[in-house]
Amino acid sequence: MDPGIYKIIHFIGLIVLFTGLGSLIASDPKKPAAFRRPAMIHGIGLFLLLLSGFGLSAKLEIGFPGWMLAKLVILLLLGVMIVLIKRRVIPTPLLYLLAIILGSVAAYLGFTNSILLRFS
Ligand code: HEM
Repeated sequence: MDPGIYKIIHFIGLIVLFTGLGSLIASDPKKPAAFRRPAMIHGIGLFLLLLSGFGLSAKLEIGFPGWMLAKLVILLLLGVMIVLIKRRVIPTPLLYLLAIILGSVAAYLGFTNSILLRFS
């Protein structure tokens, strides 16, 4: 598959993940039924990002450099956030801030290490 296709899936994954995270933060944790759909959207986003991230790495023959490990850890943290959101262990404004900061650092790592951008 063309690396450009993986890149599109990567960005769709981002949109899906952050739509899920935002809806999770906004939903009432005391109502498990209301939590189900955002949790599913969040999970699909994580899966798409992981799939396209490794797809890009394979197609561009990048291997597994340090910045990719850092992105993987960030993805893991964005995944674990569902537990923090459910248990409300962190105040809501901080949850939003955490999601934005983690996403921004991952985006920075993606753009600054991009082979695709360097040659376009
Ligand atoms: C929240 C998580 C993530 C964000 C915000 C993110 C963001 C980005 C961005 C903005 C790009 C630049 C695309 C371009 O070339 O224009 C990118 C590329 C890439 N990402 Fe991610 N990403 C995330 C997670 C991951 C994960 C988990 C992996 C793999 C384990 C990964 C692997 C890659 C690879 C291999 C590229 C291609 C770099 C290149 O063009 O040479 N990303 N990502």
